[in-house]
Amino acid sequence: MNTSSASKCPFHASAELNEKAQKFDMFGPEFQHCPATALQSFREEKPIFFSEEMNYWVVTRYEDIREIFRDPVIFSARNVLEKFTPDTQETAEILQSYDYGMNRTLVNEDEPIHMERRRELLEAFDSSKLEGLRELTKTLVTNKVDEFIGLGKVDLMATLLWDIPVIVALKFLGVPDDDISVLQQFGVAHKVNTWGRPSLEEQKHVATNVGKFWHYSGEVLERMKQNTEGQSGWMYDMIRKNQSNPRVVTDNYLHSMMMAILVAAHETTATATANAIKHLLSTPKLWQKLHHQPQLIPSAVEECLRYAGPIVSWRREATENIQINGVDIAKGDKLFLVMAAANRDPEQFENPEELDILRDNASEHLSFGYGAHQCLGRNIGRLEMCAFIEELTRRIPDMALSEQTFTVTPNTSFHGPEALWVEWTPKAVQGTEKTSRTFPIGNPDKRTIVRPAKVVAINTIATDIKEIILASEDDTLAFPRWTPGAHIELHLPNGLKRKYSLCPSLNANHYTILVKQETHGNGGSAWIHHHLMVGDRLSIQGPKNFFPLKPHTQPVLLIAGGIGITPMLSMAEQLKHENKEFRLLYCGQTRQSMVHINQLEKFAQAPELYISSEGNRIDLETLLKVQPPKTHIYSCGPKSMINEIQMLAERYHLAFSSELFTSESQTLDPEKENAFEVELMDTGKTYSVPRDKTLLEVLLNNDIDVPNDCAEGLCGSCEVLVVEGGEIDHRDHVLSAKEKQSNQKMMTCCSRASGKITIKL
Ligand code: HEM
Ligand code: FES
Repeated sequence: MNTSSASKCPFHASAELNEKAQKFDMFGPEFQHCPATALQSFREEKPIFFSEEMNYWVVTRYEDIREIFRDPVIFSARNVLEKFTPDTQETAEILQSYDYGMNRTLVNEDEPIHMERRRELLEAFDSSKLEGLRELTKTLVTNKVDEFIGLGKVDLMATLLWDIPVIVALKFLGVPDDDISVLQQFGVAHKVNTWGRPSLEEQKHVATNVGKFWHYSGEVLERMKQNTEGQSGWMYDMIRKNQSNPRVVTDNYLHSMMMAILVAAHETTATATANAIKHLLSTPKLWQKLHHQPQLIPSAVEECLRYAGPIVSWRREATENIQINGVDIAKGDKLFLVMAAANRDPEQFENPEELDILRDNASEHLSFGYGAHQCLGRNIGRLEMCAFIEELTRRIPDMALSEQTFTVTPNTSFHGPEALWVEWTPKAVQGTEKTSRTFPIGNPDKRTIVRPAKVVAINTIATDIKEIILASEDDTLAFPRWTPGAHIELHLPNGLKRKYSLCPSLNANHYTILVKQETHGNGGSAWIHHHLMVGDRLSIQGPKNFFPLKPHTQPVLLIAGGIGITPMLSMAEQLKHENKEFRLLYCGQTRQSMVHINQLEKFAQAPELYISSEGNRIDLETLLKVQPPKTHIYSCGPKSMINEIQMLAERYHLAFSSELFTSESQTLDPEKENAFEVELMDTGKTYSVPRDKTLLEVLLNNDIDVPNDCAEGLCGSCEVLVVEGGEIDHRDHVLSAKEKQSNQKMMTCCSRASGKITIKL
């Protein structure tokens, strides 16, 4: 858990960065080359900045972008398809000659009509309806690979990835696929037209193609309207809605949608797969890993979407004066949300610059957007990506990237290689090609994304405290790096899962944790103390960090109670290394129950010990009331200690972060729980939460992607907004007492409601 009672301080950036911000140009070489790294220093020092060059606010942090996506009323989607390069009179005339009249489509319209339409149209995207599409994709991919496997070298974009997503999209839409290449060309024109910066000459060419695209899709639509009897596909659903509910699904809406959906479905999926293959092949051991363990493909796909999603930025417009993270945004201001930067935000993803296919929270990426407009076709994109990667890793394990220079079509939002040359030893088509694996449709189940680990040492280092040292069981995948405050989750053979903070290790490839035997715990620590042996194999998840050390807080006070010293050791080590001003205070009952007390100087210059059996108890009130106002307190220890520090920090205006790992049982007792009903405001659908399930489980089971990390009310990631009704029984350790009282938010993994409530993601 990580709470902060300090008001958000304004960010201080260097004069150089301020100047760079003013002149920031999305079409500049840095952003075009790699949008994720181009904004790294901004994300750290000036996360929201105004680019005078572009007349846009640029937003780079995960939490800020997620909050913006979350509010479709204050942050309108009306500018999502606005042209970066406005029409000239000449291009306007060209478009007019084709009666071009593209209007709003789902992605750029506002509430309440957006939701009314989304509700009418979302049925077809249900995972249960996508199995046919998955089988079709697999067959198409297998047949295409048969055609080129004997060649030994191809441009994957041209031979495979550019065609299949458009065929799949047309099948989903129910649109005949007789003129695919025409559609593809028009799709590119639409991209350049909206997000590009074409020259005057190019603009005319693009306008002609866009006009033709409009005209062509109108013709196809007319043909489809003539015969809807027994026809299936999303466009036919829409045509029927147009007949039954013309107020909501208008004629123009049908036509505009036909045009927009091809771009939404085609280039996104093709580029997402090209990016994924490019990055997996850049680290050949990952490609090999997926060949040998194809069950990891869905989590690898999700991680590739995080690391190099095809849509790197999206737009919103403020409909009222509002503050985001302390920055004033005026009504009418335009926002450029850089998901590529947010997806590498270290506050959300540990070790974010590494492509880590065992990252169990990768699916929290923002590459599909979030909230009311979140991509409806995400599970189609996912199933296609899985099918491509499965077929290629299975049949061509020796595939490698060819020597090449990657190029991109200059634009602000779609990022991926125009060509992807790969090579391998040519192979003959054999009879085993049809044995492809089938993956479940949807978000991968994060419970299955684990790292194999082995125990390399167990040392008793204090009364009832064991030090456990773990190494990766997988020679090809080393343990990822981690930051002070991070933890891992141990999955024990007795079915229990326990979280432990990481401590500094002598060997950088090892993870070290300290486990105290809890007398009132639920058996996790007792099992470790009595049964765990050197050489045992375990699964772990993480590392994740809900308790990060903030970069610019001075001075720092680290207060540890008992085994709460574990995250403090790595924090102290880091602060010492950075020459920062800090104090380390360590409270314990007896000297024998405290760890490393003779070596604490390694971590802090003058560690302060408070040992109650020696009559030296900490007086928190006396200590905290004299701290300089900007002091940031980090605390880990018993709940009572954390609560007291939080209360005092509020009283004396000190910043405060804490971490609490409970050993309280989180299992639901159906005898004692109430069932309740939840309406999801975005879709208008109502779900029943039975006595033996959490709201989070119900949402996830219904394909609603809610970020979640700890499932114990500790991390805050599964928060939803409560819009209406019901009393909330708050069971988390994230919200403050005031927030709990106001009943406007709830953690879906643990809190419950009485009666019916309406929530918003
Ligand atoms: C919206 C990404 C594939 C249909 C979006 C948005 C993004 C996105 C970023 C805007 C979200 C927002 O404004 O919050 C992607 C990616 C894909 C993909 C990365 C592939 C990997 C597809 C496919 C389809 C599709 C295959 C359809 C067959 C849609 C629709 C919307 C949308 C209908 C508008 C939803 C609304 O505004 O209510 N997508 N998309 N997408 N996408 Fe996708
Ligand atoms: Fe962490 Fe709910 S608070 S998942």
